[in-house]
Amino acid sequence: MDNLELIKEAKLARLKAYAPYSKFLVGAALLCSDGTVFHGANVENSSYPLCMCAERNALYHAYMNGYHKDDFVALALVGDTERPISPCGACRQVMQELLPSNAKVIMSNIKGDIKVVEMKEILPFAFDKEDLQ
Ligand code: THU
Repeated sequence: MDNLELIKEAKLARLKAYAPYSKFLVGAALLCSDGTVFHGANVENSSYPLCMCAERNALYHAYMNGYHKDDFVALALVGDTERPISPCGACRQVMQELLPSNAKVIMSNIKGDIKVVEMKEILPFAFDKEDLQ
């Protein structure tokens, strides 16, 4: 599956968002090495800090289906932003633990702008599970 096809999946995922407070819909699509794609979208709550981002929902969705870090190849994101949507800091922390460091992070927006980076580029000096040893 190429970047554009994965972005198309993220757009489908975005339609599943529950965002009555921000009205800002975000979609994520996580590609696995066997070709499986997991969707994630943001799910908000009237207690605002409980809102969950699309990126984390996609990763947790995959974990709940028995997939793990080494299975993941790319994560595409889409939002209705001026520039390609960029994951928040909390998501980066989760992504760096659950995505391989060379996984592609494909940031995009509704109008078709795309920026592709590797996971390791977007959270330098991350706190890591090795720090707990
Ligand atoms: N949001 C995401 O789902 N992913 C991001 O990368 C940025 C922000 C969500 C959280 C909240 O539901 C809404 O967008 C506004 O911040």
